[in-house]
Order: sequence, then structure tokens, then C-alpha cells
Amino acid sequence: MNAGRELRTGPSQAHIPELQLRPLFLPPPGQEFAPAADLGDDTMEDDATTEPGVPEYNVFGVHPVEAERVFWYRWILGHQISFALWRAMYDIIGDRRDQMPSPPELESLAACIDAYSAMLLYSSTVPRAHYHSHIRHRMMLQHPAFSGTWAPDYRPVRRLFRGRLPWQGDPSCEALGAAVTRNAEAHEYIAGHLVLNGRSLLQQSGQAANLTVLRDKEELYDNFFLTVRRPVSRIEFVRHLRERAAEVSAELAHNGLYPNVDGHHHPVVTGPSGAVLITFVPSVLRILDRATRLVAGQQLQGVGV
Ligand code: HEM
Repeated sequence: MNAGRELRTGPSQAHIPELQLRPLFLPPPGQEFAPAADLGDDTMEDDATTEPGVPEYNVFGVHPVEAERVFWYRWILGHQISFALWRAMYDIIGDRRDQMPSPPELESLAACIDAYSAMLLYSSTVPRAHYHSHIRHRMMLQHPAFSGTWAPDYRPVRRLFRGRLPWQGDPSCEALGAAVTRNAEAHEYIAGHLVLNGRSLLQQSGQAANLTVLRDKEELYDNFFLTVRRPVSRIEFVRHLRERAAEVSAELAHNGLYPNVDGHHHPVVTGPSGAVLITFVPSVLRILDRATRLVAGQQLQGVGV
């Protein structure tokens, strides 16, 4: 971890990020992407993520940050990127529950899951006290039982995360299985890190976990994370993902993974129990960039770009 204290890029040179959140547009879960031409959206601009090389970042940030802005931004942006990754995964597994994905599709699924784990880490870099007084408090005001089980894009891929798809036992799914295990451990770790007893708002509310989530709960959830459902083309979807990946890059390059908050850092991974996340600490951008490229390659195949 000490190696992380080295300055890998000149942060004073890094571009100051705007930290401006924007709505994420996604199709309603289970609904196909719209043809680009129907939306007048058939051009794909060159994007920084297509350039070779991923910007590096300091693990421990140098510039003091405005905590409320940075951690709110990270919480919302990290979730929006997770939603897009889940949606890309759904596009691969779809409803063909019995059909084994191809090797490149398996590679993409594993990359998306690792990128989701990296986003769990990114979102969870908020100091614990700040998380409780600001972020969790706002989620609780949105609904006292606010829960990840209401995430509309997660529901269609939940079985994959539970290892319940019939083909997941095949030896060719070993790398995917390892990514699923890493993800479960990462989620459990960050839950225990931010909430010492690991109990969610749903559990604390005393309400029963309900697998048939009502549409109004999904809307409360989407609304909190600035996510709007409407027809979206594959081109637009990829653009949203790439833009957000580039924003994470710029933000990390400037603030470091563990920002300087009033002269202190608040590392997420502090001991052996966080072992699963150690490899993610210096690699958030590389992992996210890889998933973004694979998703873009898959989504843009055959749409003429
Ligand atoms: C960092 C961002 C987080 C994301 C993206 C996230 C995502 C999710 C998702 C998608 C589920 C549904 C899992 C399923 O249905 O199988 C879930 C459930 C759960 N999460 Fe998280 N989670 C995050 C942070 C946390 C934190 C900080 C806690 C700490 C208490 C937590 C505790 C739980 C618990 C206990 C459940 C089980 C259902 C419930 O009680 O709400 N999660 N989470």
C-alpha cells in the first residue's frame, strides 16, 4: 500500500474536473435498444477511451477536496456506471437462459463484473461518518427501506451473480465464476466498511425483502441516481458509458482514489479482510477501461460504426 503514496502522475498538472452529474438514459429493463436512425443518432464521435493508455492516478490524493461534492458525485456516478455495465451484461445473457455465451461474450461478462467491483470501491471511498450523515441519510429520506434490490437493471442479471444460470458450471466459465466471487466479496467488504454492522436500510427498516419489487420502488431508485428510462440506441448507450468512464479518469487523476479530506485520507482497504479489493486499488481505471472497450466493441458491431 505504501507504494500507492508515490506520485505516479503530476496531479497539479491534472485537469480540474467539473464534477457535474448528468442524467443517465437507459431503456426500460428488458426492452431492446432502439435503432439509431429512429432517434436521429447514428454517429459515433471519437472518444478518449479509444486512445491507447489509461491515465494513472495517485492512490492518496494531494489536493484538499470539497468532500460533499466529490463524494456525492462518486456515489451517483459509480452507480450510474454500474447500471450501464449490468445493462451490457443483460444484452449478452438476455432471456436465453440455456444458451452458453461465446468465449468473447464470457470475457466481456467477466470484465463487466470486475468493472462493477471497481465501481463498488470507487463509490465507497467516502469517509464513513460522511457516508452516514450525507449519503445514507439522503437515501433514507428517499425511502426508509431504500435498497439495492430495487435496482431495475440488476434484477435481470441477478441469476448470473447468484451462479444460477445452467451453463455457469461449465469449465469455460471459470474466469467468470472468479469475477462473480470477487464481486460478492467486494460488496460484502464495502458494506461492512461503511456500515459497521453491515445492515442495510432495508434490514433496519424492519420491512421484508420483497423479490417482487414494485415499479414505484424502482422509480424511486432510478430517480435517486438520476436515471431516466426512454428509448436509447446502442450508439448513445456506448457514448454514455465512455463519457462516464472518462469522467472517472479525470476525477481520479485530480483527486486520487482516497482524496485528501481536511488533511486526512480515508482508505477503504486497510487490512487482510479486504484482500479481494487490494488488486482493484491501483487498477480502477484500467479495469473500467477494459470493460468499456469490450462493451463498445460488442454493442457497435453491426451498427455501422
Ligand atoms: C457502493 C455501492 C453499492 C451498490 C452498487 C450495491 C448494490 C447492491 C445490489 C444490486 C443489491 C441487490 C443484490 C441482490 O438482490 O442479490 C444489494 C443488496 C444489498 N446491499 Fe448493497 N450495494 C452498495 C452498497 C452497500 C452498502 C454500503 C451496504 C451496507 C449496509 C450494502 C448492503 C446490502 C445488503 C444488506 C443487501 C441485501 C438486500 C438489502 O438488505 O437491501 N450495500 N446491494
